[in-house]
Amino acid sequence: MTSKTDIFSQLDKFFNPDSVAVVGASAEPGKIGHEILRSLLECGYTGRVYPVTLRSGEILGRKCFQKITDIPDKVDLAVLAVASQHTPQVLEQCGEKGVRNVVVVAGGFKEAGGEYSELEARIVSIARKYGIRVIGPNCIGVFNGRNRLDTFFQSRERMVRPPNGPLSMLTQSGTFGATFLEWAAESGLGVSKMVSYGNKSDVDEADLLTYLDADPDTRVIAMYIEAVGDGRRLVDAARRVASRKPIVVMKAGRTRLGVQAALSHTGGLAGSYEVNMSAFRQAGMITVRDFEELFDVCKALALLPLPNGRRVGMVTNGAGPAVMASDDFHELGVDVGRYSESTIEYLKRTLPPYALPRMVIDLTGSATSQDYRVSMEALLRDPNVDLLMPFFVFQDTPLGDDIVDVVADMLRFGKPIIACAAGGPYSSKQSASLEARGVPVYPTAERAVRAAHALFTYMEVKRRLASTVTWSAAQTSSGSRAAAGTVARALSEGRRTLLEHEAKEILRGYGVKTPVERLAKSEEEAVRLAKDIGFPVVLKIVSPDVVHKTEVGGVRLNIRSAEDVRQAYREIVANLREKAPQAAFEGVLVQEMVGDGVEVIVGGLRDPEYGPITMFGIGGIFVEVVKDVAFRLAPTSVDEALTMITEIKGYPILRGVRGLPQANIGEIADVISNVSRIMVEHEDIVELDLNPVAVNDRRAVALDARVVLKSR
Ligand SMILES: Nc1ncnc2c1ncn2[C@@H]1O[C@H](COP(=O)(O)OP(=O)(O)OP(=O)(O)O)[C@@H](O)[C@H]1O
Ligand SMILES: [Mg+2]
Repeated sequence: MTSKTDIFSQLDKFFNPDSVAVVGASAEPGKIGHEILRSLLECGYTGRVYPVTLRSGEILGRKCFQKITDIPDKVDLAVLAVASQHTPQVLEQCGEKGVRNVVVVAGGFKEAGGEYSELEARIVSIARKYGIRVIGPNCIGVFNGRNRLDTFFQSRERMVRPPNGPLSMLTQSGTFGATFLEWAAESGLGVSKMVSYGNKSDVDEADLLTYLDADPDTRVIAMYIEAVGDGRRLVDAARRVASRKPIVVMKAGRTRLGVQAALSHTGGLAGSYEVNMSAFRQAGMITVRDFEELFDVCKALALLPLPNGRRVGMVTNGAGPAVMASDDFHELGVDVGRYSESTIEYLKRTLPPYALPRMVIDLTGSATSQDYRVSMEALLRDPNVDLLMPFFVFQDTPLGDDIVDVVADMLRFGKPIIACAAGGPYSSKQSASLEARGVPVYPTAERAVRAAHALFTYMEVKRRLASTVTWSAAQTSSGSRAAAGTVARALSEGRRTLLEHEAKEILRGYGVKTPVERLAKSEEEAVRLAKDIGFPVVLKIVSPDVVHKTEVGGVRLNIRSAEDVRQAYREIVANLREKAPQAAFEGVLVQEMVGDGVEVIVGGLRDPEYGPITMFGIGGIFVEVVKDVAFRLAPTSVDEALTMITEIKGYPILRGVRGLPQANIGEIADVISNVSRIMVEHEDIVELDLNPVAVNDRRAVALDARVVLKSR
């Protein structure tokens, strides 16, 4: 394993090289090999720069070398601006020269498919041979705000480089990287590092996060990810970094990737995008939906201190946006306007009669800078305000030009302040000068609220990552051994699924409750078992060839007498013969009828990128339609499971509605955590789903269970 310090020293020459060679340098303006050279020479980088090209003479006043090995000095970084098919050869020469950091700009590798993928595999193996770290291919490379190094072929006339500052960005798309730099420059924010890493043939997000963690200039990390690859590696690195620096991530690919055999509910519900988002959040990353939000959130995190709680104070001189923001906050469960009585009384006493000190302190169109000062000071002094959100109609003429200084002065209270204002030239000028004084301004209420929410999220992330996790200790080693035996037996019989009672046996071994149940091979036996178990009972078909028992008429609920058992038994057998004549019949499961409770679904799945994951949602027959589910990586601690449960939209159902009892959330969390252990300990189980688990105020019981095994 490479240690963190190793990674830092391996990658540091990408950002802090003493010398850079541009291989494929060109004398012709507009050519990529020319523009990269120009960026290195004209944007402020002061290290040595060498053009490498077959022509002789000079380019931009620098002597050309025909091969990188001809350069007499040491070369720390090589930027390859040659076509993909020449890259392996040039990379070999870099290796011979002792260059250990290479940026490959060209496309025409894995992203092009076929033989081009082989080309990428070749450069990776050459890199490994020499111990070279490669960024790219198919990228625009790196930017370092401190030493002004950049490898971009976007000229400085066309693309502004921001000053050095707290933001860093890692992006699979050079386009987003370029936009990020320019938006940062435009809002007067600095960027410490930007890396466009394209196909990430070698250096990936996990490496770069580890690097940025150690980079003292970086305080906030933005990410744009297309394909994750090794998700476990990424989130492990992210989790380590997120407790110190916020990571804001935007992921492409909201549409579903690949088709999974829907043998289980869990398998059918796990879309790659949702799994990614859950894994990111579990690791403490802040997820956003679009680029605007990515930038908005980074700006707030870069400029402001974190709040200590989730209570917002608002002051305005115009109603609309503040009302909208209150709505949005309410939906997010954020309290607005819970001021102390003394604050309101003070404002009533002190403000002019036109002011309306309520949930939102409405100073109306007559508001002056002094009114704002009085109100903002009062709110910021109030212990019930964790974040201040002032709204401005800068256009209203009673408001003085000096308002920006008044607001900036409020930062001395150490609480985050997020402003909202919009308009034409004058408003834009005021907003810009407010931002220059360290207060982020957003043009709409929605954007201001999302930025505030990200601060709350990161505050909670820091608390969560600092707290220790607890496990449900129900699992025993005998349960684990028995499960392994059951799985091995089924696999040796060539089966892909376990029977319901086999799956439940495994669950019981891990401390999950199930109804009392026994397998009956005949009608007589079913009657006897039903009497043993006690009425009412449930009868279910047992067949290795039936996946959904209800669909073949194989489930009978609430059977209350011996006579009804006989009839149900016969019906179930007859239904199977009719609906699935080829299916093998193993008997009928006689089961205790579990009375009341909300039906939830708990699942486990092996994801191609993240390995074992858990799923939770409101269960029953509509799960696939409603898709109201949450995911976590396994192992999932009880604490993580508890948060996961609160994430679904249907969470209020579990708190007791329409005469249903309040569900025992702790019991559900135990089930999720135990399922996660089964997934971690038994690699041959690819899908596991408990649908439904019946939960009431006392217990959670798995009424049905399905296990899908790895196909061999
Ligand atoms: N022991 C039980 N006590 C009470 N209700 C039960 C019991 N077992 C099953 N049920 C109810 O019957 C429904 C169908 O049963 P079960 O989930 O076992 O069948 P299935 O057809 O295999 O389900 P699936 O839709 O998951 O394929 C359950 O969703 C639940 O509402
Ligand atoms: Mg079921």
